[in-house]
Amino acid sequence: MERIGVLFVCLGNICRSPLAEGVFRHLVTEKGMEERFLIDSAGTSTWHLGKPPHELSPEVCRLGGFEIDSQRARQVSSEDFQTFHYILGMDKNNLFELRRIKPEGAKAKVGLILTYSDLSRIEVPDPYYGGLEEFEDVLFLVKTGAEGLLEVIERDHFS
Ligand code: 4NP
Repeated sequence: MERIGVLFVCLGNICRSPLAEGVFRHLVTEKGMEERFLIDSAGTSTWHLGKPPHELSPEVCRLGGFEIDSQRARQVSSEDFQTFHYILGMDKNNLFELRRIKPEGAKAKVGLILTYSDLSRIEVPDPYYGGLEEFEDVLFLVKTGAEGLLEVIERDHFS
């Protein structure tokens, strides 16, 4: 069976998208569905290439019951649009950049993670200059989006 590819994208790939990747992988693992997915994250910029997640991440991940210590930042590439079924940005700037670089005929469905939630908010705000509270808000938002996304994928691909 083909794996369903899910790529989470933010600006630097050190704050929001690593948490989204971590929480989505955690949900998938809890359901014993790891073999059915290819899960990754990337940034639209080159600013933090090869860097580990932000220093506040371990604390937030502990709250979520998962860890992301081995993740390293990378930039989204044109090949990603053929590899992944879903490429989901955190905010409208990410989405604008993804649409700008999306190759013609790409298979990926490009959108925002929070369109898969019932929340009235549509963007996951950049927590880079914030503290633990801002990172906890990011965790809440990406977890809510990830839960909704998993429901949609189970319905559309696995039922
Ligand atoms: P991220 O957050 O896009 O969620 O990884 C940011 C990381 C770095 C910067 C901005 C946002 N920066 O300005 O370096």
